[in-house]
Amino acid sequence: ATGFVDLAVAAGKQYFGIMIDNSDLEKPEYMVIAGNTHIFNQATPGNRMKWDATEPSRNQFSFSAADALVTWAQSGGRQLRGHTLVWHNQLPAWVTNGGFNNATLVSVLQNHVTNVAKHFAGKLKTWDVTNEIFNEDGTWRQSVFYKTIGEYYVDIAFRAAAAADPNVGLAANDYNLDTTNGKVAAYVALVKRLKARGVKITQVGSQAHLTVGQTPSFNSMVSALNSLVAAGVDVAITELDIRMQLPATSAKLEQQKKDYNTAIRACMAVPRCVGITIAGYTDKYSWIQNGAPLPYDENYRPKPAYYGIIDGL
Ligand code: XIL
Repeated sequence: ATGFVDLAVAAGKQYFGIMIDNSDLEKPEYMVIAGNTHIFNQATPGNRMKWDATEPSRNQFSFSAADALVTWAQSGGRQLRGHTLVWHNQLPAWVTNGGFNNATLVSVLQNHVTNVAKHFAGKLKTWDVTNEIFNEDGTWRQSVFYKTIGEYYVDIAFRAAAAADPNVGLAANDYNLDTTNGKVAAYVALVKRLKARGVKITQVGSQAHLTVGQTPSFNSMVSALNSLVAAGVDVAITELDIRMQLPATSAKLEQQKKDYNTAIRACMAVPRCVGITIAGYTDKYSWIQNGAPLPYDENYRPKPAYYGIIDGL
């Protein structure tokens, strides 16, 4: 059988991947497809590398859950994406509400990134160093990091990651990078500033959490990816899913197929779009409640969206 991976690799992409969690590894029926390396040869941990999982209390690091995912990924020769070193969500209260001053939060941030990136050094292809740092209009999200440290928190995080794991790719990841909007412009400008300051950044990840019938056109998705590439980075689609308002009528399922096809073709049309990862694969398990956002139904059967992906690769 020809799976997503066979088609993606034949077309010159590095991988076709899945966002996956430890609980998934324990569901044998789920792993029949998730574990098939003709379908997925890349993985991104859904939760277990986030700050609340890796450093739940200050300087107490916990890696066993993430290590299990690493072991599984390596067992099948799968490429792994680290997700994520610095995010305002799933950030423990000891950081968010710690009341740290600038110098202390800088050292907390450096300590976190250094320890986590060192632990996984050599095992990951790319790290999502930062996640969701800008608002839709391109202004800075007012996270505890931005409010306390300012823009240079991003430099600090990327520099610490590069020092801890010199060979890993370093990405900034976000949603709503699907049109040439203010957020995309903010990333283009940030990439240029980071590079001018000698900070290594190799990729911008586009989450691509999309909505059936409101998915941007092929041309706008390609333009957005190309403008990021023009700043001097690779791009990837990192968490693709396309939700709908239930019930799932056949018209909506057909539109979902078209929308998946559009998103896939956009990455395929951009040589520096290195690969596509979808946020799970079956509607039985998605982070989106009641949105039937994935290419297989709750009974693990391919939906029209599945064929939209196949046709796009
Ligand atoms: C989601 C996980 O899938 C859920 O299990 C968790 O409860 C919340 O986070 N963008 C991201 C991902 O970058 O980390 C988020 O993952 C979904 C949105």
